[in-house]
Order: sequence, then structure tokens, then C-alpha cells
Amino acid sequence: MKNVFVTRRIPQNGLDMLEQKGYAVTVSKKDRPLTKKELIKALKKGSRHDASSGAPYDAVLSLLTDPIDKEVFDAAPTVKIFANYAIGFNNIDVKEAKTRGVFASNTPGGGADRVAEHAWAFILALTCRIVEGDQYIRKGKYNGWNPMIFHGTKLAGKMLGIIGTGRIGADVAHRAVNGFAMKLSYYDVVRNPELEQKYGAVFCATPEEVLKVADVVSLHVPLMPATHHLINADRLKLMKPTAYLINTARGPVVDEVALVEALELGADPKTAGKQGIRGAGLDVFEFEPKLTKGLAKLPNVVLTPHIASATEEARLDMARMAAQNIIDVLEGGKPTNLVS
Ligand code: GLV
Repeated sequence: MKNVFVTRRIPQNGLDMLEQKGYAVTVSKKDRPLTKKELIKALKKGSRHDASSGAPYDAVLSLLTDPIDKEVFDAAPTVKIFANYAIGFNNIDVKEAKTRGVFASNTPGGGADRVAEHAWAFILALTCRIVEGDQYIRKGKYNGWNPMIFHGTKLAGKMLGIIGTGRIGADVAHRAVNGFAMKLSYYDVVRNPELEQKYGAVFCATPEEVLKVADVVSLHVPLMPATHHLINADRLKLMKPTAYLINTARGPVVDEVALVEALELGADPKTAGKQGIRGAGLDVFEFEPKLTKGLAKLPNVVLTPHIASATEEARLDMARMAAQNIIDVLEGGKPTNLVS
């Protein structure tokens, strides 16, 4: 019997697919991410379902919170595939997987359009000052219509800067032009002729050029050494003091200490509009789940707990894809969504 370890509970449809194939499926009982030590211990222990007890695993369904590195590969020499339940796969040492002949896969379609919608939810929440307005009312401060409160930012005719124009970045672009009459500029390592033709997007040869011209900057790059702290103190200084930064990609793409400083300047009436940036929408954090000191106190930031792809449809789709990737491999093939 084939043994599969699932590092945290996922929607049942994926587990059913694996069980219908006759695999023994062990799901971690902890309602939180496993520490690396716990993951290694669980992998070394092997399947509790197998009659021979201690039978090693053939496949692991991992989450973006599981660091799959050399030590984890060492603890699971019989595992043929680490099937990540995520679009991103920066938690997997893909080079090491390749060297060892272990497959790694992701769930690329799962939730991509939803992440674009979430980026847009941030853009609208910030420019319409939805969260600040909501809190103001709940605190009992609203005492009648006032032409001088909560001035936001009009989007039509403004420039959206997209950094990373894969599937999600392109979806954000589509909504910007067709839904909100915005102009587009973008940076990517390769030019995107479709984005240029369809939406009149202007290619920028460097991230700096996008940061200088955009009124809203939305990040859609994978996390890799080249994108770590892509947005740092120097680059934040290039942004317009009236601009907003949206991050639904990965936390470490932004230097969060530098971002807090820029947001503090943007929130301080003495410097607002002259220094720093006006606001930020963040679904991901550099030290997730911890927040950099000062971030949660700022009025000009909207925070969500890494839920950009969290619709019921997306989560079911991701469970199906991750399970299918495991089935592909355990039935002798390659995973549909191979990343190594
Ligand atoms: C979520 O961040 C994902 O990569 O799916």
C-alpha cells in the first residue's frame, strides 16, 4: 500500500481522491504548521495506517509553511513527490529535489484570479479609505456628513505599476484597464507583448522606472534570491509620496522595516504627501506570522492574514490539483504541475 503524509488538514476532496486510489493517508493532527523538527519526526516515523507500522511515506502533500530542504529530504528518502498545496513553492529547495530525483509540484491555477481580486480589494480599501472609515464609525466618531474627512484617491487615469506579469499580474492589469480606466506600466524580467497589446501597458526596463511613475504599485513576483527585498529603503524612496504599495506575493519581497518607516512618514501630517508613501495593502509578511514592530499601529496600512487565494472554490481546486500531482507520480508518471 502507498503511504501519503499530509502536513496539515486540507479540504476533504483532495484526501478522498487519495483514499479512493487505495493509498493510506495520514494527516497531521496539529491545527497549525508543523515545526521543521516535527515534520522531520513525522516523516521518519512513517505511516501509522500501514499494518507493518512505521512504513515509510511515498508522497508528501506539503504547505507553503513547510520548509522542504536537505534535512527534510534526508528524513524521507522514500518520498517520490512533495506536492505543495500553493501557487508559490519558495519553501521547497527545488535544486536539491532535482539532484535527488524527487518531484516537486504546485497548484498554479488554484486561486490565481482570486489573488488578483484580493489585490484589487486592497487598492479599493486604501484609496476609498474603507477600513479607516469603518473604524471611525464603530468608535462613535461620526457626527454627520463632513466635506473635510477621509479624502481618498481617484483611480481613473492614474498609473498602476505591476511588478511581475505572470498570470496574477496580468489579471490585476485586466481589471485595472477594463474595470477602473487606469493606465499601466510594468516591469518583468521578460517583456509581455500580450499585456502591451491588450492593455497598452508600458514596459519599464527596471523596477525603479515603475516605482517612479506609478500611483499604485502591485507586486506579483515569486520569492527567490533575486526578488528578496526587491522593495528596499532606496526603492521606496523612489515612489511618489502619494503612492500605495500592494503585496499579495511573498513577504520577504519587501524590506518590512523600511516599509514601516515609509508608511510612518506617509501617515505623519508633518511629512504626509512629501515623504514616504501614502499607504500599503499587505497579505503577506516578511516574518510571517509575526509583524514588524510598528506595522499594526499604522492607520495607512490594510492587513490580511495571507488569505488572498482563500475562496472555497480555490481551496477545493488546490486540494484536487495537489492530490492529482501525487496520484500522477504514484501511478508511475510525472506530476501535472511539475516544478522540479
Ligand atoms: C499562496 O500564497 C500560494 O502561493 O498559493
